[in-house]
Amino acid sequence: MRRFHQRRIDQATRDALAETSLSALDFIQPIFLVEDRTAFYPIVGLDGTMHVGLDRLLSYLERFITLGINKVLLFGQVNHQKKSLNAEASWQESSIVCQAIRLIKDSFANLIVYSDICLCAYTSHGHCGIIGPDKIHLDNDPSAAALAKMALAHAQAGVDWVAPSAMIDGQVLAIKTLLAENGYQSSDQKNVNILSYSAKFSSSFYGPFRMAAGSSPSFGDRKTYQMDYRNPQEAISEIEADIEEGATAVMIKPALLYLDLVARAKNKFPDIILAAYHTSGEFMMLRAAAAAGVIDYRLALEETLTAIKRAGSDLILSYAAEDYLLARNTL
Ligand code: PBG
Ligand code: ZN
Repeated sequence: MRRFHQRRIDQATRDALAETSLSALDFIQPIFLVEDRTAFYPIVGLDGTMHVGLDRLLSYLERFITLGINKVLLFGQVNHQKKSLNAEASWQESSIVCQAIRLIKDSFANLIVYSDICLCAYTSHGHCGIIGPDKIHLDNDPSAAALAKMALAHAQAGVDWVAPSAMIDGQVLAIKTLLAENGYQSSDQKNVNILSYSAKFSSSFYGPFRMAAGSSPSFGDRKTYQMDYRNPQEAISEIEADIEEGATAVMIKPALLYLDLVARAKNKFPDIILAAYHTSGEFMMLRAAAAAGVIDYRLALEETLTAIKRAGSDLILSYAAEDYLLARNTL
């Protein structure tokens, strides 16, 4: 008989033997930018998250920096009249995201800035790419070209990583090529890396985010470009394709319902940086259960985030990093 209880005998022993540990450095904090400069509004339906204008951005970021978080992912939301069929507002150097990148890099040089590269917040119909002649499917290659232009604008503003999330075929290659043509794939400090949302599933767990980003499709759904959740083998192929196209890091999204794929991807591609996105719906399920009094929020959150790390994620995108780190400091 082996005596496993010795390993669990007290908190100090459990801590010493823990095989998984979470750190502030594991997290990437999502940030929702809006054009109203003085905005600082709680996002209804996505607890603890704010819509932030440029005047309030730096003081907002200090909250996360104080907790040791050193990575942020920027999402931009533009006013309705700027949205269009071809999403031109997404690649303007005056865009809210480009302005925020410049501001952050001027003030917090050590904060690593990621920007979400997708058209859905900039198209009048809310789909992630440009709609093709059949008015149903995305026109793949023009969509990839638009994403590349958006990524280049962010690179010129000084972003460290671009994170294409549109599930357009070849989006990594299109971005990589345009960045290289403009000198952003060199070994010096101008290098811009790509974190691809490689295996992003058509999921019911994005609801609160779509309200936050104003990016719900006005017709149809995203099933013709986001993945079918029945297909684990295809997910591995998507990841493999993005690695071949030159992604430095790949992502699986959502995280919790897809931890089998996180583990598989880590096993199959041990050298690639692997990220997982704890999505808005997954996060709000925890909040809702806690509000209903059926779970302890802090304990359930720690267990949740630890599970994402244990499965093999190097980077975790979550709306709950601040809650977790604050709770840990006071435990
Ligand atoms: C947009 C985008 C989405 C998320 C990140 N980028 C939503 C979608 O694809 O509809 C989801 C984030 C979340 O739910 O937390 N391409
Ligand atoms: Zn999108």
